[in-house]
Amino acid sequence: MPPPPTASAGELSLEELWMPFTANRAFKKAPRLLATASGMHYRDVDGRLVLDGTSGLWCVNAGHCRPAIVEAIQRSAATLDFAPGFQMGHPSSFALARAVAELAPGDLDHVFFANSGSEAVDSALKIALAYHQARGEPERVRFVGRLRGYHGVGFGGISVGGIESNRKAFAAQLLPQVDHLPHTHDLAHNAFSRGQPAWGAHLADALEEIVARRGARTIAAVVVEPMAGSTGVLVPPKGYLERLRAICDAHGILLVFDEVITGFGRLGTPFGADYFHVQPDMLTVAKGITNGAVPMGAVVVRRSIYQSVVDATESGIEFFHGYTYSGHPLACAAGLATIELYRREGLFQRAAELAPVWEDAVHSLKGVPHVIDVRNVGLVSGIELEPRSGKVGARGYDALVEAFRSGLLIRVTGDIIALSPPLIIERREIEQIVDLLGGVLRRLA
Ligand SMILES: Cc1ncc(COP(=O)(O)O)c(C=O)c1O
Repeated sequence: MPPPPTASAGELSLEELWMPFTANRAFKKAPRLLATASGMHYRDVDGRLVLDGTSGLWCVNAGHCRPAIVEAIQRSAATLDFAPGFQMGHPSSFALARAVAELAPGDLDHVFFANSGSEAVDSALKIALAYHQARGEPERVRFVGRLRGYHGVGFGGISVGGIESNRKAFAAQLLPQVDHLPHTHDLAHNAFSRGQPAWGAHLADALEEIVARRGARTIAAVVVEPMAGSTGVLVPPKGYLERLRAICDAHGILLVFDEVITGFGRLGTPFGADYFHVQPDMLTVAKGITNGAVPMGAVVVRRSIYQSVVDATESGIEFFHGYTYSGHPLACAAGLATIELYRREGLFQRAAELAPVWEDAVHSLKGVPHVIDVRNVGLVSGIELEPRSGKVGARGYDALVEAFRSGLLIRVTGDIIALSPPLIIERREIEQIVDLLGGVLRRLA
């Protein structure tokens, strides 16, 4: 790995940057600054090696700074830095749409590009409205999300999302017609489940109650993560997603899977839809589509959705939506190289093969101080800690800080640790993650 570009935090002014989803004041007093990355590791600005237990932020599925991706981005930057995407095109956006469509299940074979998961979700909500309008059901405008769902930070995403802290400051201006399903997390029934918990399929029936209350013909779409990641790894109970699908089918409601985390191999299959054998009408993706190397998001829709919207207009622009950087050449170059790398190295298959090893390893943390649940699916695990009395999130935060000090990057939501390593992880690195984390938890107050 090359030496870090900045020698130490002392030479930097940290004041001007307003950091996202960060305790700015605490961070600036004791910063954690990453300088370089390669494969399974980061190095911080002091040159310390940090094992990446979270694929950055659930994105770097193929490992860091992979030469094939780096070179593709460099080539694109030197040959086509930018091309407008409105009424113009460039070959690699079409090629990437094709590659994504080929990877996506069933007839999910049309792709709309955005630049992030948040934009992908807001685009999917608009597509749902446009689709129902095109089919002559313009009164279908309601959305149904789920408590504890995370769908990014746009107004659409926080409206269908169900994370209270992300909504409360903006509650006066959320989308007005949204209902939420209950979440599926219940430690009394499901603590220390391996894979999909047995209890909880019936929670999908809350959708029937919403349909009865609102009227099926007012509901445009249900939006859920097949596995809720950001809220602390909530694996869907057996039969739950199937029931959601059946209820949506019975009432003409679109089912949108937000696969920003579960897409591109995280569960050992191309998408969560493949893993859970439930076919949605739209997928939203981001993160792993470019291995995190260039920002990109996308909505993958069924052919009939694309066709309905496009055919509803006699001529001219069919869908008044898009971003300056939709299908940006650098992102497309990164996406094409990433998908080719996933294929060439069989990384989704590798994740599937490692999943049982991962499961045994993370469940060995049962009995370690503070651990009240361990859950897992694919190459993901949630480790829930007992909150300190009156101080929810404090223990989780301390775990993040102490893990980083110990050379391990973890992700924390409240008191839940999420682990999601790059799919190139070796068995000894799985052991290392668990050993390091066990040590951190034993040292924590
Ligand atoms: C399921 C899901 N949807 C949407 C998003 C938002 O993505 P972004 O941060 O790229 O806007 C995330 C981010 O973690 C996510 O996990």
